[in-house]
Amino acid sequence: MRLPSNMEAPIKIGMLDSGVGGFSVLREMLRSLPSHPVHYVADNAWCPYGNKPPRDIRRRVLRIADSLIEAGCGIIVVACNSATIHGVELLRASYPLPFVGMEPAVKPAAEMTRSGIVGVLATEASIAGEKFHRLVTAHAQGVRVITRPCPRFVELVEAGVLEGPEAEAVVRAEVMPLLEQGVDVLVLGCTHYPFLRPVMETVVPPTVSILDTGGAVCRRVSRLLDAAGTTPSSSHSPAALAIETTGDLEHVTRLLPLLLPDHGRPVTVRHVDLFNGEASP
Ligand code: DGL
Repeated sequence: MRLPSNMEAPIKIGMLDSGVGGFSVLREMLRSLPSHPVHYVADNAWCPYGNKPPRDIRRRVLRIADSLIEAGCGIIVVACNSATIHGVELLRASYPLPFVGMEPAVKPAAEMTRSGIVGVLATEASIAGEKFHRLVTAHAQGVRVITRPCPRFVELVEAGVLEGPEAEAVVRAEVMPLLEQGVDVLVLGCTHYPFLRPVMETVVPPTVSILDTGGAVCRRVSRLLDAAGTTPSSSHSPAALAIETTGDLEHVTRLLPLLLPDHGRPVTVRHVDLFNGEASP
């Protein structure tokens, strides 16, 4: 799906995730595309997605996509691996605008490994997804791919615990079993996990590579915007950032300076009720 060309104003980028994990993609987006307003919806009322049935994930993301389109977004980044794996094809079939999804870096990992053993950290939902299995079959022939869901990583990030003894103990417990099996490349297949990368780097030896896909997703968005010939802003003031959460406003407001320090954008954060108050079971 192509973007409309020769737009008068910079296209607004929509983003969504189960919570604040997609901020790991958003922080790259704000740096690399300063002229484009960004509207991010965090579905904290239904977080985590990782233990939810695919049909629930699809229902949630379709509704959120509706609201991003109503808000004037011209391109939507599904900044959530679980939602991409279970929902991006339906989103693309349902709306006439481009959706950019996350793809765990299985292909670069398979090309990079020397031990022939790659670890993929991702949610249970992502690992169970047909789209994930297709990715492994297509790009990791001859490589052993060991998957591991790390729901506690999502809990830590949503609690704003990115360092310290608790974060270190949880990271060690999840990562060590993979290293013991000979993994030399770790793929971060969930957008929450990059916030724990600094702790991971203290736990894994320097011979182990850690890969995530936030940067690649931003480059893809940037190429789509360039191809559409969108007009860069003539104004010197930075474009706005709107953040909405279906959950607790105070929760997201508190995490903002920790997860997105120095973003330099005029920001609004508000609660949005897209599901008539329905909360996570
Ligand atoms: N950040 C999401 C992902 O990339 C979802 C994590 C969760 O809500 O379980 O999969």
